[in-house]
Amino acid sequence: MEIVNRIPRMQAISRRLRKEGKKIGFVPTMGALHEGHLSLISRARTMSDVVVVSIFVNPIQFGKGEDFDKYPRDLAKDAELVTDRGVDYLFAPNRDEVYPKDYSTYVLVEDLSDKLCGLSRPGHFRGVTTVVMKLLNIVRPNFCFFGQKDGQQAVIIKRMIRDLCVDTEMVVCPIVRDSDGLALSSRNIYLNKEERSAATVLFRALNKGKQLFEEGETEAARIIAAMQQVIEAEPLARIDYVALVDPETLEDVYVLEEDRKVMAAVAVYIGSTRLIDNMIFGEKPTFTYSEEDL
Ligand code: PAJ
Repeated sequence: MEIVNRIPRMQAISRRLRKEGKKIGFVPTMGALHEGHLSLISRARTMSDVVVVSIFVNPIQFGKGEDFDKYPRDLAKDAELVTDRGVDYLFAPNRDEVYPKDYSTYVLVEDLSDKLCGLSRPGHFRGVTTVVMKLLNIVRPNFCFFGQKDGQQAVIIKRMIRDLCVDTEMVVCPIVRDSDGLALSSRNIYLNKEERSAATVLFRALNKGKQLFEEGETEAARIIAAMQQVIEAEPLARIDYVALVDPETLEDVYVLEEDRKVMAAVAVYIGSTRLIDNMIFGEKPTFTYSEEDL
């Protein structure tokens, strides 16, 4: 595995690989890697000749007062974790090269970026789409891999790739969870012991919603109310949103229908840590457990 820091070097490698006819699989991350990230890497491995993983804590997707400064960064540890996982290039560019002083170009997917997490994190998705577009331009992968964990992010990136005719195929991988159902996230390390056990409330609420859906409840408002109740019963939890939306358009769904998939999405503060999770109702379970749990 080679660690690549410079953008022109990464571009040169990609150019050579494409010329040689190699299929490039790309997994963009912000580091602090866990089994969720590793599941994307494994998937990339099965579909590509060469796997590129990027690690870049993207300043422009963090709002004022968010956790940019304290976001966990440990490149050496991450590099060790992905060794022997079939990663060929670990691309870790530096901030000044990604965003030079006079940087002035942004990518915004309208409407979708204003919903759900966009409401409490204005500018967040503009930061995400801008950096992902740049990374895709640098790596020029045949396949790029994202997690359903960030369901809205996946929808927005899919739209960007379509709208801007980006020559890559996007693969969305299932959510990896701990044995108690908590979706793995780099931010889980912020949780103390009590908060960590309270954090299962996101998964519990999603399961409650799913249960009602499977019992034939069709009123979204009733399902949402039941999910809210689960979360409100947890003293350390504070709801940001609980929503049932169309998995493509992210528009609110009011009446559930048997043959229509719906994404249940939640964002909840556990203490001061904001966690998100989601589940698609109307399809087989889309999560796997982390290898450590098995
Ligand atoms: P990050 O939070 O590091 O996540 C990188 C990728 O891993 C994302 O596609 C995310 O959905 C996926 N992922 C995280 N936890 C997961 C889990 N428990 N199961 C499955 N997949 C999981 O998302 C970002 O970074 C950034 O916004 C980025 C796209 C890199 C742009 O900066």
